[in-house]
Parts: sequence; structure tokens; C-alpha cells
Amino acid sequence: MRPGPAPRPPAVAGDALRERLRRLPKTELHLHALGALRPATTVELARRAGSPVLAAAERAAAEGYAFDDLPHFVEFFIGLFGLVTTPADFERVAWEVAEDLAALGVRYAEVRWTPTSHTARGATVDGMWAGLEAARAQVERRLPLTLRWVVDFPRSLPLAVGEAACGIAVATRDRGTVAFDVAGDERAVGAEPRFAALFRRARAAGLGCLAHAGEAAGPESVAAALDLWGVDRIGHGTRAIEDAALVARLARGTVPLEVCPTSNEALGVVPSVAAHPVVELLRRGVPVVVSSDDPTLFGTDVVREHERLHLEAGVPLDTLGRLAAASFLQASLPAAERHERFADVAREAVAWSEAACA
Ligand code: ADE
Ligand code: ZN
Repeated sequence: MRPGPAPRPPAVAGDALRERLRRLPKTELHLHALGALRPATTVELARRAGSPVLAAAERAAAEGYAFDDLPHFVEFFIGLFGLVTTPADFERVAWEVAEDLAALGVRYAEVRWTPTSHTARGATVDGMWAGLEAARAQVERRLPLTLRWVVDFPRSLPLAVGEAACGIAVATRDRGTVAFDVAGDERAVGAEPRFAALFRRARAAGLGCLAHAGEAAGPESVAAALDLWGVDRIGHGTRAIEDAALVARLARGTVPLEVCPTSNEALGVVPSVAAHPVVELLRRGVPVVVSSDDPTLFGTDVVREHERLHLEAGVPLDTLGRLAAASFLQASLPAAERHERFADVAREAVAWSEAACA
């Protein structure tokens, strides 16, 4: 990778910067609900379940979480599924995640769930969505946030699990689900051609198609997600930088990378946020949306992701404002609905960006 431009010294930092970034109208397009549990909720639910997660959650209160790499992280994440099982649990978690996002200035969020991992531990799809939709109804009444769901599936489990997840995504399309995603350990199972049928089915049902790719595996995984699965957005895509032709292809197209800098640093995908290829990807014209992935587990939030990109990677504030404005166009919603819901808020983000230049 060629070095990006040297970071300019920030004109504003600390609480003032954080407050300014909080006021930027933003989306959160890559966030796993269980990676965004409030620490106190994690402890309470883990204690109730008698889960081994409890010890880690209590330790994390003092030290934060630490993971060796993506497989280690995925192994820990699996332990979280058993914490959230009843309709009331889903409602509580969804509401708390939404409340936290709204407090960060997020105006549109697509929150990811892995329903097959909950049903394998005693939850039911109906119970799960009863809770999720009760939360969403409250959000609509009480918060300046539009909230939708993404159904993902763990790529390492048998294909039947992916098929079941796809069926759940299609069946819940009138209950807030807007997209279908493949997550989990990309190094164990990369660009699997058999998943193409799942994405075809999701697309035919009007769902957006998303994939974690180019996180633990290389650029070939990103290219395959485009070619085999026809995805609309790439989760991470960080390692696309290793292939200049792929970067040029992404720059010519409309498929954005959902860039989650702190997650990439925490899982060793990049050595540091300062060295994240996002600067070079932006310079070469690749569409990017900034997201936080699993904020509780990585000790971040979406405002902090913007702050770190500015302070550590040197991305100018007006660029961050323009990315936020453009991100509303990447929502997995019909174009007319996107326009109706977000034309004003995207204009607000553009105005924020222009003010950042002044
Ligand atoms: N599930 C939750 N976070 C993930 C990540 N960063 N990569 C793959 N699967 C995940
Ligand atoms: Zn993710």
C-alpha cells in the first residue's frame, strides 16, 4: 500500500470534536446487536444464564475485551447468543441498542441479528420478532431514528442453517427486515459458491444482500462476494487494498465498503487505525460507509470511529460529513422510500460538512 497523506493536525479535538461528530447526522449500517449490548445488560443476562461470558464481561468492565484474531472473536461471540432468548430480552436489547445509537446522532440503523443461533438455544422466530417489533414501534414513537433489521448467518455452519436464515429473512420482510448477510469466520469458509442460491432468493424477495468479506481473507474474497453473490455492500472489505484492479473496480461501482476501523485494529486485520487503508481507498474513489461492527466488544462507538479516522488516520472532517450524507443512499430500502425519509437529513449532513470546511 502506498502511504496516504500525512495527517493534518486537528483543528478541534477532545470533547468539542466528539460533540461536533455527535451532531453529524449519520447512519449505522454495520452493527451486530449482540456486539452492542450495554455492559451492565451483558453482566445481568450472563448471570441469569449462568454463562461463562459473565467472567469475561466482569473483567471487561475494568480492562475491556481483548481478542487474538477473528476466529477467537467468533468463538467468544457464540457465547453471547444464549444470553438473549425471550421476547422481552429481544425487546430490551433492541431498545437499548437503538437508544444508544440515537444518542450518538444516528438517524438510520440496520441492526444485525443471527436468528438461527438464538433458535438453536431455545428462542423462537415469532418470539424474537415480537420483541424486535415491539422495540421498533417504541423507537418510531420516541426516537429520531429509523430502525431496520438485517438477518445474518454464520458461514461455518451447515448450508441448511444458511437456508433457514434466508427463510427467516424472507418471512420477516414485513416485520422490519431489509437485508441478508453472511458473517462469521471468513478464513474457515470464504467465498462459498453454494451461498449464491441464498442470495438469489433474498434478492428476489426484495432484500438487500450483504457479506462480510476481505476482513480475515484477502481481496479474492471481496471479488467473489461481488461475482458469486452479487452483494450490495461489503462488510469491511479492508483487504481489497491488496489488489489494485479490485480497488479500481470498486471505485467505478456503487458497492460501498462498510469500514469499521477499531474492529479491524482489534482483530489484527490492520496494525493500527493510523495505518488503515481507508485513506488510500478514499483517495482512489472507493465508496465507504463508516460503521462500528461490535462497539461494546471493541470499546468503541460510531462517533469514536469518526473521531479516530480524523485524529489518527487524518481523514478531514468535511470528508467524514460527505461520507455520512452519502451513506443514507446506501440504506437497504427502496429508492423512493430512501429519498422520502432521508433527503432532508442528508442535506443536514452536507451542511455540517460545508461548515467543517469554513
Ligand atoms: N460477527 C460479529 N462481528 C463480526 C465480524 N467482525 N466478522 C465476522 N463476523 C462477525
Ligand atoms: Zn460484522
